[in-house]
Amino acid sequence: MNAGFPIPLQVNGATAPLCRLQGVTKSFGKLVANDDVSFSVMPGEVVALLGENGAGKSTAMNVLCGLYLPDAGTVEVDERPMALGSPAASVARGIGMVHQQFKLVPSLTAYENVSLAVDRGRVWQRRRPSDEVRRLMAEVGFDLDMGKPVWRMSLAERQQLEILRVLAQGARILILDEPTSVLSPLESERLFMLVRRIVARGRSVILISHKLSEIRQVASRLVVMRGGRVVFEGSAAGRSSEEIAGLIVGTRSVSLAARPASAPGPERLVVENLRVTGHSGRDSVHDVSFKVRGGELVAVVGVAGNGQAELLDAIGGQKPPSAGRIVASGSRKGRGFAFIPAQHLGVALAPGLSIEDNALLGVHRRKPFSVWLRRREVRRHCGRVQDTFGVVADPDSAIRRLSGGNLQRIVLGRELVGDPDLIVASYPTRGLDIAAAAQIRNALIARAAAGAAVLMASEELEECLAIATRILVMSGGRIVLDRATAQTSLNEIGRFMTAAEAS
Ligand SMILES: Nc1ncnc2c1ncn2[C@@H]1O[C@H](COP(=O)(O)OP(=O)(O)OP(=O)(O)O)[C@@H](O)[C@H]1O
Ligand SMILES: [Mg+2]
Repeated sequence: MNAGFPIPLQVNGATAPLCRLQGVTKSFGKLVANDDVSFSVMPGEVVALLGENGAGKSTAMNVLCGLYLPDAGTVEVDERPMALGSPAASVARGIGMVHQQFKLVPSLTAYENVSLAVDRGRVWQRRRPSDEVRRLMAEVGFDLDMGKPVWRMSLAERQQLEILRVLAQGARILILDEPTSVLSPLESERLFMLVRRIVARGRSVILISHKLSEIRQVASRLVVMRGGRVVFEGSAAGRSSEEIAGLIVGTRSVSLAARPASAPGPERLVVENLRVTGHSGRDSVHDVSFKVRGGELVAVVGVAGNGQAELLDAIGGQKPPSAGRIVASGSRKGRGFAFIPAQHLGVALAPGLSIEDNALLGVHRRKPFSVWLRRREVRRHCGRVQDTFGVVADPDSAIRRLSGGNLQRIVLGRELVGDPDLIVASYPTRGLDIAAAAQIRNALIARAAAGAAVLMASEELEECLAIATRILVMSGGRIVLDRATAQTSLNEIGRFMTAAEAS
């Protein structure tokens, strides 16, 4: 274990770091989000920045790209100090970040979006990519139709475009914050191919991810944070997933409960001939029928964009179906039915309200609350919601200040309080660290084992095979495979997921 070890790092023959954080400290009120954070990034390397939810990863990256002014510390690029707290200074020194929420203008074309970022201040508008942008596209291998408007692009295409835009601005250090959380396994592979090409010419990538298998695939070095501090910095080579997990969670162990033994109870969710029409007027869900009984934990999987998200949104009442029928035990307003949408801020949570008010959303008319909201009851309820998955924060603080993982924990804590009989969860472990993900999986397993019906969408096939009793594969808006987990395999599921692509 070391932080600031005196042996000079050497990557690809280079000995001078491209960028170095030294003693970066940043507090929010009493909370020290970054405590004396120091690490370097060498040219040509992929550094994985790891740590549990709330460890301080995004804060450190926000300091690096000028969004936060630290209380103490310095950042050097090419061994020269960089002005802090200025996004323009960070961009000028070659730091670029792709945020989880993309910053593209949907009504403009791909090229117009790039142009907006690089041609600012030009007198005449170019209609086609400049030689420079075209050279960049060929060098890195971007596969994009630059004349296509962004709203017609898939999430994976939008992400490529974001990366292109940041590189076109001259980024030499590219920060990717949980980039694969919106991608299918195949799309993730493609992204990593781009990442390898990006670093091949001496640029560097800082990758934030909770998925250990992909870290082992692309990272050359690991920087692990815990409680705001860097607790490990070292080579990634030859480390197993277990070893990396150990570095992240320290001594705490992470274990998964056994899949619920399926002794199906009463039907709790019936979906018949469901059709959902998407924005473009095309059907995103075609004639889908299935049932979920008490005691079952059913996972819906598929390549992103094949109707899984729309199916769950329709069941959760977020999107009206254009045909078909949904019969659910317990109404949305009653206590029996919990829905966890894929998007938190703005759908499941009100960004401007406090944690306490958000913990109350949707349950404010149930017991113990009545016409009067007694302050003591509200406080106690919020404590229960926070404790369910261990969110340590001041209940009066604005919810949008929470880290990505903690937002997810609040939604789940709120929805699972009161032991619902039917749980519909859209990507419930997305963005969660390994310990929290295991905790949520265990909570879903426990509800199913206690007789609840659970339906979840997930992009992690290993997760589904481990915890689901049944798996539904969607492709082109239809269910193309519906099978008990014990009777299928990763191989078979993968084949059905990509069957439409291949034909
Ligand atoms: N603007 C802010 N105001 C108040 N607190 C903040 C702010 N930004 C971050 N925090 C707090 O600082 C801590 C570190 O948050 P940060 O977002 O850096 O974590 P993270 O490692 O990126 O976690 P995750 O994996 O969940 O994204 C958290 O406790 C978070 O609530
Ligand atoms: Mg984060």
